[in-house]
Amino acid sequence: MKMENEVAIITGAANGIGQEVAVQLAKEGARVVLVDLNSCEKTIGLLGDAEHLECLGDIRDPEFVKAVVNRAVEKYGSVEILVNNAGTASRKNIETMTLEDWDRDLDTNLKAAFLFIQAAVYPHMKEAGYGRIINISSVSGINGGVVSGGDENGRSGPAYSASKGGIIALTKWVAKELGKYGITCNSVAPGATATGITAGVAYDTSNQVIDRMGQPSDIAYAVMYFASRESSYTTSQVLKVDGGISIG
Ligand SMILES: NC(=O)c1ccc[n+]([C@@H]2O[C@H](COP(=O)([O-])OP(=O)(O)OC[C@H]3O[C@@H](n4cnc5c(N)ncnc54)[C@H](O)[C@@H]3O)[C@@H](O)[C@H]2O)c1
Repeated sequence: MKMENEVAIITGAANGIGQEVAVQLAKEGARVVLVDLNSCEKTIGLLGDAEHLECLGDIRDPEFVKAVVNRAVEKYGSVEILVNNAGTASRKNIETMTLEDWDRDLDTNLKAAFLFIQAAVYPHMKEAGYGRIINISSVSGINGGVVSGGDENGRSGPAYSASKGGIIALTKWVAKELGKYGITCNSVAPGATATGITAGVAYDTSNQVIDRMGQPSDIAYAVMYFASRESSYTTSQVLKVDGGISIG
């Protein structure tokens, strides 16, 4: 129980990677704050007796974000771990992408992370002198998005890549700023992982060193390292968990 009584906010906890992260954190004793647009019923069903708080709403709304952090602190007294995981991925190309598509991905994948970091750190993590912030980026934020099997629909769009590149830069900025308060900030960059976001896309994994789709647990184990007290000398890192697709 490495995280006994620590409080972890996980966005996008109703499904996929966020669900698995919540389950693994809870297994280590964390009290999990489940944030999503959609019901977290399935996740709650996997938590057993673990302490949890469900907060349903839109993370693009600054008032909702503040309310989540306030509810967590009112109920449990602190916030030790923040996992900015919720994400959307438009697959339209740059010719057909609308401003609405662009804003949705940028606001969900990047703006919301800024809002949560601000609300969790000031004052809670800063005053406690401790925090673990983990931002879920993507290999698309490093390489501009894979083209899978020649199927144009399999490639995440320009807004997605830009938002994920942005969150990597934000991770580094925040790590430099907050290290002095005992707060680390790192990122996990998944490759193709079997979740709702990739459902219906035929990924060709034969060019990966490990020829299979990732599973949410593959990503969650990496998050668990960054979320642990044992990772206290590690900050500003971007850990690719991608079956080796990004080996040069
Ligand atoms: N699955 C992959 O192949 C892959 C690869 C690289 C990165 N990622 C990243 O992993 C993260 C998790 O995605 P996933 O694969 O588990 O997808 P998913 O679709 O299963 O889960 C995303 C969750 O985010 C929630 N969400 C979306 N917009 C929201 C909003 N505005 N407010 C609150 N909740 C919202 C959804 O309801 C959903 O439960 C995302 O940031 C995604 O970009 C996934």
